[in-house]
Amino acid sequence: MRIGILTGGGDCPGLNAVIRAVVRKGITHYGYDILGIKNGWLGLVEGKVVPLDLNSISGILPRGGTILGTSRTNPFKLEDGVGKIHAQLSRFEMDAVIAVGGEDTLGVAAKLHEKGVKVVGVPKTIDNDLSCTDYTFGFDTAISVVSEALDRLHTTAEAHHRVMVVEVMGRHAGWIAVEGGIAGGADYILTPEVPFDLGDICAQIQRRRERGKEFSIIVVAEGAQPEDTSLSTQTEDLDAFGHVRLGGIGNFLGAEIEKRTGYETRVTVLGHTQRGGSPTAFDRVLATRYGIGAIDFVHQGKFGQMVSLQGNKIRPVPLAEAVAELKTVDPELYEIAKIFFG
Ligand code: F6P
Repeated sequence: MRIGILTGGGDCPGLNAVIRAVVRKGITHYGYDILGIKNGWLGLVEGKVVPLDLNSISGILPRGGTILGTSRTNPFKLEDGVGKIHAQLSRFEMDAVIAVGGEDTLGVAAKLHEKGVKVVGVPKTIDNDLSCTDYTFGFDTAISVVSEALDRLHTTAEAHHRVMVVEVMGRHAGWIAVEGGIAGGADYILTPEVPFDLGDICAQIQRRRERGKEFSIIVVAEGAQPEDTSLSTQTEDLDAFGHVRLGGIGNFLGAEIEKRTGYETRVTVLGHTQRGGSPTAFDRVLATRYGIGAIDFVHQGKFGQMVSLQGNKIRPVPLAEAVAELKTVDPELYEIAKIFFG
């Protein structure tokens, strides 16, 4: 058998660990040929494919990014994109494709499966917002970055008696804000799931001052929205999956807090530092298990399925189910975070 592997959407630490596991077990255990498809679905449309052998995966386990490159290409938006994919699969005699991605990349995988492509999905996103899996790889690395940043910001906030607003990623779901915020001892956390009330945030900052805490750390997910106005975006342009580029809520919030409380406020946008660099040990292990699971599913003919983590076991779930709706923050977890507000 000849198997293709691609990485699509925003990159995330652990992609190379998945590729390494697929290639390693695919070649040494099953005797497959493995082809690396460049730049997500775009590479399959254009036929940009490279053979992967044991040498190509040597030393990539701790490396962030992806040796295959990535893109946010949606073949269903390209003229005859699906026809071209079928043609390239025949041209390279590719029997099946392992697609590593988030809701967009795996949404395409689910639709291609309906059109006869043999595909297995691997859940990747720092946002941890894919359904049917306890965790996506990349998330643990992202919250480690947030937690370390909050530790650093605590000391300077305390020294200057400032409010620090920290904007983190999370377009539709606030997992990074909530778990990163709990780990880093945030004094308030704002998520896309719960529209925020500026008056309440300022009251909590005030309450801290009254009990002698002259600094506050506020974590805000990029997709968080105030109760009374709409999303803060950088541009009006949409990508191939219809997403606007977010960013700006932190600065909005910082200015409002300073105006309303009179306390000096600074804003830090963590941005792509949350996505770059080396994966944590947890993400390396999870990504490795997912890669092994994916090549096993191919061998077992479990197409149209995604590898998932369920109670520390790797299980198959239908791709269509996994991408049907996003996994938003568990309200019980947010209640835990709220105990530490103010
Ligand atoms: O999907 C992951 C994510 O990190 C989102 O939280 C964020 O909105 C998006 O990627 C930004 O990605 P880029 O700047 O690469 O378009």
